[in-house]
Amino acid sequence: MIPADKIEEVKHAADIVDVVADHVKLRRTGSSFTGLCPFHNEKTPSFNVSPSLGIFKCFGCGEGGDVINFVMQMDGVGFEEAVRTLAERYSVVIPEKTEDQYDPQQHLKDGIYHALRFAGNFFHQNLAESDDAEYAREYLKKRGYPWKTVRKYGLGYASDRFDSLLKNAESAGINMQYLHESGLVKAREDDSGFYDTFRSRLMFPIFNPSGKVIGFGGRTLSSDKKIPKYINSPQTPVYNKSEVLYGIHTAKNEIRKAGEAILVEGYTDVISMHQGGIGNVVSTSGTSLTAGQMRVLKRYGEILLMIFDADVAGVKAAVRGISIALEQGMAVRVLTLPEGEDPDSYVREYGGEGFQEYKKKETVDFLHYLVGLAQKEGRWQDPIERRKSINEILEAIAVMPDGLSRANYVQELSSISRIGDRTLLQELEKIRNRIQKDARRTAERAAMRAGREDQDSRRPTSMNQDLQGGARQQEMERHADASFQGAVGRIPAGAVAKDAVSGEDAVAPTRRHTHPPKRPGYEKELIRLMLTFGDKIIEFIGGYCSENDFEDPELRNCYNDIMTRFQKGDPVSVEVYSRREHPYPELVGEVVLQRHWVSEFGMKKRGVIIHRDANPVNTAQGALKSLKIRYLERTREKFLDKYASASEDEKAEIQKWIRKVTGEWNRHRQEPAETLFPDI
Ligand code: UTP
Ligand code: MN
Repeated sequence: MIPADKIEEVKHAADIVDVVADHVKLRRTGSSFTGLCPFHNEKTPSFNVSPSLGIFKCFGCGEGGDVINFVMQMDGVGFEEAVRTLAERYSVVIPEKTEDQYDPQQHLKDGIYHALRFAGNFFHQNLAESDDAEYAREYLKKRGYPWKTVRKYGLGYASDRFDSLLKNAESAGINMQYLHESGLVKAREDDSGFYDTFRSRLMFPIFNPSGKVIGFGGRTLSSDKKIPKYINSPQTPVYNKSEVLYGIHTAKNEIRKAGEAILVEGYTDVISMHQGGIGNVVSTSGTSLTAGQMRVLKRYGEILLMIFDADVAGVKAAVRGISIALEQGMAVRVLTLPEGEDPDSYVREYGGEGFQEYKKKETVDFLHYLVGLAQKEGRWQDPIERRKSINEILEAIAVMPDGLSRANYVQELSSISRIGDRTLLQELEKIRNRIQKDARRTAERAAMRAGREDQDSRRPTSMNQDLQGGARQQEMERHADASFQGAVGRIPAGAVAKDAVSGEDAVAPTRRHTHPPKRPGYEKELIRLMLTFGDKIIEFIGGYCSENDFEDPELRNCYNDIMTRFQKGDPVSVEVYSRREHPYPELVGEVVLQRHWVSEFGMKKRGVIIHRDANPVNTAQGALKSLKIRYLERTREKFLDKYASASEDEKAEIQKWIRKVTGEWNRHRQEPAETLFPDI
């Protein structure tokens, strides 16, 4: 932990223009600077730096934040490392880590990182210098890896001795516990000590996105079929296999620029592709693809190109990997390599350009890939088998979170299969209902368990028979927030049961990084007003809204945070928030440096005309009106949904609420903002 005042000092000392200018050619435009964004490909500058606020913002890809965020993104390092880099550059002295906030888990992790880094250097040194690595050096040369590549990927060699790393680590003062926890040595069965896990292997260090070694893969150089070709580090506190992608450290900026990630299978595939000039490549390295890996990738790009062998066994197997990616909202494409090739061999044979050409010609979207696969297997020709294949493909479409994409793919499948889209849509609905039911059941069971534990710890007798109802009640109460109660009165329990347990929520889209999140303009507007005009406006806005009015989760948190500070009497300003932790600086950048003003068109449509900041109260009234109208719309939609699936006796009650909300909604649309939110 770096002390907070030191972080402040670094932020003050660092010149953001100076730091950015190392990577971006900047031009002065008024009080800020613009240039071509380093985080995505563009031809006209939409990257903006404001020296007075100390923040940057790209209007093209949405990336933004303060000088520390910039270094983190650019160098691919963590917060602390970014602060230390800047501190060094601007001569701010930061004390070495202190022990005052002892966190045993962090301590363990640091110890493991340290052991891993030592091992990485040791193996690499070994490969460079030791006599018994001669064969390994020859091998790499034959595979076409020059020393430059070996250095870039930190490749190394583990000798055939059982105690080579062990002895060297010991004499370098590496703690055995950490070496053991890192998976680099194993305990002897008779407990008499440890021995090296990796022996006689070419070592591939695995890095996390910020460039720390978190594990290793080791390849044997023997052709003995009885020896496993690769062995990999076990799961450790710093190496979570379900989230690791080999090559991410070097690939992430390329993925961001291309908007696309290429997924391959092996270590050597990644290295050879990178070497061939194709940088946006990562691999799962032996594990099957996981949702966690997809979430990591999605931070950098939304298109996934999966490279498959020519001999994938069956639609079902292929669907599994594809649907994991689709479920996370990735657009999935597939490239099948010619028989007998893997990306490594292909690039070595035809070069990076050859690969690009092949890719351009042969890439298909997942739907065409799956249909093609069924055809190749002869399943498309047989009516019954074809039916099955179509159903399997619908299973993949069904998990896509975006309704429009689902509809598009159903259309496509309909025209390929010549089955009416109505029929397919019905099938799709069935599948989606089943998925949602499963998700609901899982959530209910989890809630049940949680509830039971809760009860066990607090109440001796079991009295809550309807845990689900109980959970709903709470959910409801969160919903029936103060402002809405003021307008419509109390909403009945269960009437607006938020779909917390439905499948929809389970696949809620995560925050995108490649495109700016679409936050409602009027919400941004309210936050901007509060940050810019201080107490009077905060009091005014705070008096008329509550957190539940905000649809965007980050803006909602920001609103809460501002209100908390305000109530405590702490200062609220753009400066304060642009120096806060993530995501505040980014948010501030977004709301303050807005290139286009809150869509006047959108405001007019809602019957609001605003004049920017001539009278901030006036502006706030307009934005509040839009905010409330949207909130009432949302509430009304929820009631309508609820109505559709309600039982007969529930229906009358719900109808009453729908009438009430609709009335409020109409009133808010008709009355002028000044009357709705008078300035007192
Ligand atoms: P491959 O057998 O295709 O190896 O396994 P490769 O990557 O092409 O390696 P080279 O080119 O022969 O050197 C693909 C990936 O599966 C994992 C490794 O991550 C490997 O890169 N794997 C393979 C294992 O984890 N264990 C194994 O025994 C084999
Ligand atoms: Mn290979």
